Parts: sequence; C-alpha cells; structure tokens
Amino acid sequence: MKAVWYESQGPADEVLVLGDMPAPEPGPGEVAVAIHASGVHPSDVKTRRGYRGPMTLPRQIPHSDGAGVIKAVGEGVDKARVGERVWVHSAAYKRAGGTAAEICVLPGEFAHHLPDAISFAAGAALGIPAMTAHRALFCAVGIGNGGVADKTVLVTGGAGAVGHSAIQLARWAGARAVIATVSSPEKAEAAIEAGADHVIDYTRQDVIEAIRGATKNKGVDHIVEVEFGGNLPVSLEVLKPHGVLASYGSEKKPRPALDFYPLMFRNVRLQTIFMYELTADQRRNAVADITHAIEAGSFTPLIDSSFALEDTAAAHARVESGRRTGTVVVTPSGQ
Ligand SMILES: NC(=O)c1ccc[n+]([C@@H]2O[C@H](COP(=O)([O-])OP(=O)(O)OC[C@H]3O[C@@H](n4cnc5c(N)ncnc54)[C@H](OP(=O)(O)O)[C@@H]3O)[C@@H](O)[C@H]2O)c1
Repeated sequence: MKAVWYESQGPADEVLVLGDMPAPEPGPGEVAVAIHASGVHPSDVKTRRGYRGPMTLPRQIPHSDGAGVIKAVGEGVDKARVGERVWVHSAAYKRAGGTAAEICVLPGEFAHHLPDAISFAAGAALGIPAMTAHRALFCAVGIGNGGVADKTVLVTGGAGAVGHSAIQLARWAGARAVIATVSSPEKAEAAIEAGADHVIDYTRQDVIEAIRGATKNKGVDHIVEVEFGGNLPVSLEVLKPHGVLASYGSEKKPRPALDFYPLMFRNVRLQTIFMYELTADQRRNAVADITHAIEAGSFTPLIDSSFALEDTAAAHARVESGRRTGTVVVTPSGQ
C-alpha cells in the first residue's frame, strides 16, 4: 500500500516520506480500514516536529483521525462490519500506523459508524475536533445540573476546528446562547454559520465589555477555552458563580499565574481536557452525541482544504501556517 511516514522528527518537507509498504492485517479485536480521508490536526504536526517528546517507535505513519470503509476484521470483531463506512480516531496515538496510508489497522472500538449524511472528509474531522469539543461541553454532566442546556456558553476561537464543533454541539444541546471570540471578519462568518448568537473580534473589541453587553451583565455559565493562560483574565471577569472553565489548550501562555481566590469565592470548576486519554465511557458518550447531532442535521464539521497523499507535507504546512479555518484533509485513496 501507499503510505506517508517519518523515521526522524523535523520539518515536514524534510522528514515525511511517501512510499510503498506491505498492507497491515488486523489482529484480534482490530479492523482494517481503507482510508478515504485522513485528518491533519495540530497534534499530528506537533508530534512530527518533536514538540510532544522524542519518537518512541522507529517509523511513524502520522495522523490519528480519518474516515473510510472497513475492508477486513480480526478475530472477535463482527464480520458484518466489513463494508461499513466509519470514522476513526487515535490511530497514531502511541501506535505506529496512522491514517496517512491507504490502509489503517486499529482497534475496532476506535472505528465508528459514519452516518450517510456526511462525507469521508467530514468524518476525518470528528475524532480530535468534535470529541474534544464534546468533552469540553459535557465535562460537568452528572455533577449537579451539569449539561449546557439553557446555559450561556462562551467558545473562544470559534472558527477553530474544535471551537466550530463546540458552537454546533452547544446549540444541539440546547444552550440558551453561544458567544464566540474570533480574530477576523472571515472567522466571524464561520462562527455565525456554526450557530453563534454573538461574535466578538478579540483583536478589535474589549472582550469583557462585549460579553457584559451580550449577557446584560450576567456573564457566562460555561467556557470552552482554547487558550487557558492567555484568556484567564477574561475568564475571571466573565464566568458566573458555579461556572465551568473547560480548557483544551494554553499554547501562548502555558504557565499562567493563577489568581486562586476569585475562582474559589465563585465555586468555579476548572477542567482540563486531553482527548486521547478520555475514558471509554466518555468516548462512548461523545460518539453517541456526535452521531445524534449529525443525524439531526445539527452538526457539520468545517473543512479547510484537501490534499493528495503525495502532498502531505503541504497539508502539514497549511496546518502550521495558522491560516486555516477548519480541518485539513489528506486523501490516500485519491478522492
Ligand atoms: N487537549 C486536547 O485534547 C486538544 C484537542 C484538540 C486541539 N488541541 C489544541 O488546541 C489548539 C487548537 O486546536 P484546533 O484544531 O481547534 O486549532 P485551529 O483550528 O487552528 O483553531 C484554533 C483557533 O483558536 C483561535 N485562537 C488562538 N488564540 C486565541 C485566543 N487567545 N483567543 C481566542 N481565540 C484564539 C485561532 O484563531 P486566531 O489565531 O486567528 O486567533 C483559531 O481560530 C491546538 O493547540 C491544539 O493542539 C488540544
């Protein structure tokens, strides 16, 4: 099969290699998926760069997310799954065989039915973006009235792959209002199209004032945060008592100073999210809700661009450019 891989970490155009290798066979509990679309996310790019630590395997086929059709199943997996359209996640997390290949073998529990309503490209944007967004929104379920129904939700980076998913899932879950922050008119359009009621350009507006205006000075109940450290001063001002601050990134300010008492006096709940290490229950809940939202016509992942497998280095460059709006996809089967 054709695949892209790397054997050392570094810049994409120096380390990514396109070549042929024997197609892998599914072992017990595994499925072999013919990959039609492979999602390229910041995590894949950071791992290839070495930002997540040195390689632990001699050769890595990158990309954890993807979508395609099950071609073969291993022992213990229902044979009726052969021919099933699926979306997959976690293929390259602590595993050598990611989705930047014609065939990807992974545990059957990481391959989920892809509703007919959405394309393979959209399926390749469900794993990391949608499951992270889901966890950020539903992390307090089971704790008091923990969902986001009737809540006011702030989604920072609302045109990002995760943020755009979070806006749609918050809407689907019955949020009273969704406020999103963005950095340009184009990104504002994407956030509005996802269902945001209020969009704030954080490069041009006073975010605290704008949120106060949008909420009649009440503030927000729940924050889905892309930049924990950088936006903490805003979160401290706008989060209501008993509010939830669910963060999945803090790239610009990874070691922020935390002003404890303003959070404590308001019983704020801080939740970090690392999608790859969700529990099996959390994953199952996310998959079920995302599937319902897709089938209800309430969830459509945002796709930025599509590249041939031969152009995987250009796809990585697009992710690294910071200019994308949505998920970048590579198409191993040429579709
Ligand atoms: N913990 C996890 O499990 C997990 C899962 C998924 C992603 N992540 C991480 O989360 C980050 C975003 O991922 P993504 O795939 O959504 O990337 P993305 O599609 O590039 O989106 C990030 C968005 O955040 C915006 N942004 C950046 N800084 C911001 C700030 N201070 N305030 C408001 N918006 C801001 C960006 O827009 P501007 O740059 O134009 O502002 C962009 O629209 C990456 O660092 C990724 O590695 C973590």
